[in-house]
Amino acid sequence: MSTPAILVENVTVHYGEVLALDAASLSLDTARICGLIGMNGSGKSTLFKVIMGMIKPDAGRVLIHGQSPAKARKEGGIGYVPQSEDVDWQFPLSVRDVVMMGRYGHQGFTRRPSKADRAAVDLALDRVELSEFANRQIGQLSGGQKKRAFVARGIAQGATMMLLDEPFAGVDKRSEATITRLLRELASDGCTILISTHDLHALPQLCDEAVLLMRKVLMHGPPEVVLQPEHLAMAFGLDVLNRDLPEQETANQRRLSKQQDWS
Ligand SMILES: Nc1ncnc2c1ncn2[C@@H]1O[C@H](COP(=O)(O)OP(=O)(O)O)[C@@H](O)[C@H]1O
Ligand SMILES: [Mg+2]
Repeated sequence: MSTPAILVENVTVHYGEVLALDAASLSLDTARICGLIGMNGSGKSTLFKVIMGMIKPDAGRVLIHGQSPAKARKEGGIGYVPQSEDVDWQFPLSVRDVVMMGRYGHQGFTRRPSKADRAAVDLALDRVELSEFANRQIGQLSGGQKKRAFVARGIAQGATMMLLDEPFAGVDKRSEATITRLLRELASDGCTILISTHDLHALPQLCDEAVLLMRKVLMHGPPEVVLQPEHLAMAFGLDVLNRDLPEQETANQRRLSKQQDWS
């Protein structure tokens, strides 16, 4: 058996009293596109952060191609498109600066960009169709353009794994189509992709496989199987939501699950 690209084994994460991941396990093979679905608060962003090595699990372990996340990250193997809430959009960085961050691992400690660094950044900007916005401050882009800038950072980096946390939230159709096309291209070049999304309709076109998360991985399989209403109900509906959740969150989730008629 070959080593999985991502191995998450019985990972538990708490924030203080809040249990965000509860013995979650996931194994993902190289060059697959995997969709991560689950309602707000189900632990999607926490799972990304654990895979990135930004959060240490209280229990369990994560291996990236058999290595620790810290090592994989240091080697520049993991590209990360954070959810919008996790980015400071006021930061005085241009689009080009953000994409150049992907080249830090290729530069010496002076961080002076080489010709090759600049060429890689230009190429990545071109692939995400943002060349004309290269000098704009990152916050001055539309939602979809911001996401494309972070995808370009991963491309410039030469990442062999891309983690995308809700890249389609608040995004125009053109950006969604561009990102989807790029992810397909990257996967066919051997890149492994984990992507969280609420766009369930697009899931079968977007992904090779899907994961249903509710603190645990409830299900992992072909999108059309995971999307069956009785499976979605496990993560989005009904009584599983009401266990151990703080009162306000429970009310929120009830409201959300009422709004969402997946059947
Ligand atoms: N920094 C934090 N401090 C405290 N609680 C957090 C923090 N980040 C997330 N949480 C809580 O952990 C749970 C999982 O959150 P998260 O991973 O962001 O879920 P998702 O991305 O699926 O919405 C939620 O209950 C959330 O409120
Ligand atoms: Mg999130």
